Amino acid sequence: MPRLSLTVLGLVVAASAAFAQQPVTQPQRPGGPKLDVDFEATPPVVAKAMLDIANVGPDDTVMDLGCGEGDIANAAARLKGARAICLELDPLRIAKARENAARLGVADRVSFIEGDLFQADLTPATVVTLFLWDTINLKLRPKILDLAPGTRIVSHGHDMGDWRPDRTAWANRQSKDGPSAVYLWIVPAKIAGAWTLTAEGETYTLDLTQRYQQITGTASAARFVARLRNARLQGPILTFDLPRSKGPPLRIAGRVENDRIVPVAEDGAAPRGATPSLAFDLVRTKP
Ligand SMILES: C[S@@+](CC[C@H](N)C(=O)[O-])C[C@H]1O[C@@H](n2cnc3c(N)ncnc32)[C@H](O)[C@@H]1O
Repeated sequence: MPRLSLTVLGLVVAASAAFAQQPVTQPQRPGGPKLDVDFEATPPVVAKAMLDIANVGPDDTVMDLGCGEGDIANAAARLKGARAICLELDPLRIAKARENAARLGVADRVSFIEGDLFQADLTPATVVTLFLWDTINLKLRPKILDLAPGTRIVSHGHDMGDWRPDRTAWANRQSKDGPSAVYLWIVPAKIAGAWTLTAEGETYTLDLTQRYQQITGTASAARFVARLRNARLQGPILTFDLPRSKGPPLRIAGRVENDRIVPVAEDGAAPRGATPSLAFDLVRTKP
């Protein structure tokens, strides 16, 4: 295919994908509540992709903020056996969501809250789902970042600004409007600051810098300073390789528990060339 046609095709696909991400604006009802985003249902195939990317299971509580007619919340209960909370400001939509839950036989696992998503208590959720606007996601972001580390956030079509997703999937590829983006974020623990690490008979000062789930840091000891390698934060689990003046790097894997990081066994092997340490002490000394 000629180069120009490919470029044109690319633009058409990009434009239609962008279009697919915008909830269609419908006029708000006279006398109805003042909504931040108008109603548009997430198609079933996209709802399933959202639950799949977050690996939702029976132990989860999925909270859909602005749940409309319950398409995501009811699917979480029906397809994944999860508990779900459907939170919606518009009483007519939530009535329809309840009706749909009863029709689908999931009313015992889905609860309904009529209320404003900005006032909602999000703490019962292990998974929060969103089909809102970018601006609303950004307004919610501080509250989301204060949720328990490891809470999964999934958004249909809209991102979180400079908080990059942990994963992105594309769903509904056959749609005439183009595919829909599905984004997953995992709420990271707060780990910035100075820490003291004692491992294998040595004590180091760690300075950790955090930008959401992205971590950089240095380790210093007497006459020794090194940059941490392969640092990764996934929810409450921090892993990194600590270069040492002698011998292979030490692999540290731990669960953040406020100002302590306690050792955990890593799933799978530590990266080649690093020696796992299962008996370290890691304590925050300065935020
Ligand atoms: C684009 S629809 C998404 C519906 C559903 N989450 C889905 O994906 O199928 C957005 C929903 O948010 C609701 N909504 C708008 N502003 C809200 C607010 N401040 N609090 C709670 N719900 C709100 C609207 O009534 C609408 O049902």
